[in-house]
Amino acid sequence: MNILVTGNMGYVGAPVVRQLRSSRPAAWLAGLDTGYFAHCLCSRSPVPERLLDRQYFADVRDAPDSALEAVDVVVHLAAVSNDPIGNVFEEVTYAVNEQATVELARRARDAGARSFVFASSCSMYGFAEGGARTEESPLDPLTAYSRSKVKAESGLAQLADDDFSVTSLRFGTACGMSDRLRLDLVLNDFVASAVAGGKVLLLSDGTPWRPLIHVRDMARAIDWAVDRGSDNGDPFLAVNIGTDSWNFQVLELAQAVVDAVDGARLQLSPDAHPDRRSYKVDFSRFKSLAPDHQPKVGLEEAIRELVTALQESGFRDTDFRKDSDLVRLNVLSRLRRDGLLEEDLRWADASRPAEVGSGP
Ligand SMILES: NC(=O)c1ccc[n+]([C@@H]2O[C@H](COP(=O)([O-])OP(=O)(O)OC[C@H]3O[C@@H](n4cnc5c(N)ncnc54)[C@H](O)[C@@H]3O)[C@@H](O)[C@H]2O)c1
Repeated sequence: MNILVTGNMGYVGAPVVRQLRSSRPAAWLAGLDTGYFAHCLCSRSPVPERLLDRQYFADVRDAPDSALEAVDVVVHLAAVSNDPIGNVFEEVTYAVNEQATVELARRARDAGARSFVFASSCSMYGFAEGGARTEESPLDPLTAYSRSKVKAESGLAQLADDDFSVTSLRFGTACGMSDRLRLDLVLNDFVASAVAGGKVLLLSDGTPWRPLIHVRDMARAIDWAVDRGSDNGDPFLAVNIGTDSWNFQVLELAQAVVDAVDGARLQLSPDAHPDRRSYKVDFSRFKSLAPDHQPKVGLEEAIRELVTALQESGFRDTDFRKDSDLVRLNVLSRLRRDGLLEEDLRWADASRPAEVGSGP
């Protein structure tokens, strides 16, 4: 099987490459990434790209035809990956997350791929009072980021047919250690605050519900989706990815982090406000479709791994929200300020896409 993973040099991409390589040693695996965060490595392990047969350094908006040649499955992770970036770079968010996504899938299908696995998001449920959201619940995307995921899903649904399955994985908020750690995710942010400054600062009143999923469990769900065909079921499938027991209130997460870090305490921001994004999610469809790929990592284990990794690296940056390269918007803003990225977030000096490695 030949698999192309876009966005492979990001937070989720690293565990996805490790998972696919370990479960499919004989597969031809390629990555395609523009490399915004390639330098943001946080582990002492050899780089995950080492496990690939080929790496394309390219923008998904300009992906070369060669990247889709003889590919069976595309795992599409490349995206403007959160609300803060989407608020600053709104046009790019739609161009990459919606338009380039649908266009890449169309090109993959035309080139003979049989399946497209899309990293979608539960944030499309928005402010959802009442019971847990199922895949049939009304959507209420509140930001450019989540609207771009809704639009991408609807464009992708139209491309799916008996020979081309599309699986849209609606992930909860990711957490946990990765070769390219992000600290702009709720649990990771809390752990970093506790390790660096001995306190967890809550910016909201702590009541919102958030479904979480560990990055390694995301990778296992993607591994399942790679094998999903159109033969027994709808060629387009949207499925919430996570587990019912990982719907947490933000305060509960903060408390779990405080309990795990010696000397840490909880602090409420003086201007704490109720967060409009609150949603509980129902994961029963995923449970029935993929009983062997259910999330495995426990909350304490996820926190412990982060604490150990940050402590071992000597992490002390109490201002990380403003200045750390482990916050995606900080990196993109700096690259823009330094003139390395154009307004549309293409590299200013990009001449043509580069390729390293061998073909399928
Ligand atoms: N992290 C989460 O909590 C979460 C939750 C739900 C869904 N997702 C989705 O999972 C995917 C991966 O998220 P992540 O946390 O790894 O984000 P990330 O920002 O760490 O990684 C995204 C990767 O995509 C690449 N990329 C961005 N724009 C590109 C472009 N135009 N061309 C080529 N490459 C480009 C970046 O260089 C980066 O390596 C995204 O689609 C995201 O929306 C993430």
